[in-house]
Amino acid sequence: MGNALFEKVLLQTFAGRLTRNILSNTQIYLCAPVALMRMAQMTLGMLDFSKENIHQETFIPERQQPLRTIDPSQTHHIVVTSPAGARTEFDIFAGETILNGALRQGIDLPYTCKTGVCLSCLARCVRGVLEIQFVEQTRREGPGALVNTCIGYAVSPEVELVYE
Ligand code: FES
Repeated sequence: MGNALFEKVLLQTFAGRLTRNILSNTQIYLCAPVALMRMAQMTLGMLDFSKENIHQETFIPERQQPLRTIDPSQTHHIVVTSPAGARTEFDIFAGETILNGALRQGIDLPYTCKTGVCLSCLARCVRGVLEIQFVEQTRREGPGALVNTCIGYAVSPEVELVYE
């Protein structure tokens, strides 16, 4: 969830009006990965919610996903289309996630937790095969599936994803 979406949800929650009373007296409890809580705090601060009323609990996944060995001698071609229809193509190394491969090259894709928890990196696979590496299991996904790019590894030579 990005800042804009969180702000929209907050406004909907309070029927579109953040009165002085709401901003001063609403108790807010955050429990999420650190980066997501940081984003939420920024949005809450920007909207002028009282800092004293924001409580948080640090959420850390029990175990990290096993990391794969990166092999720069093998690449996969990735095509992503943004919700606005902008198409970006890039290559990633075997063994790196689609998200990390994009970020390494300065390509801005959505994410927050990078651990498969927050779902802010989800994209729909329209071509190719990926492996989604959860802590307890690895799932193979193909066209039609929603996939976490932060824990998603390309299996086929080409993978095409659409952000919805
Ligand atoms: S960035 Fe959170 S699930 Fe992928």
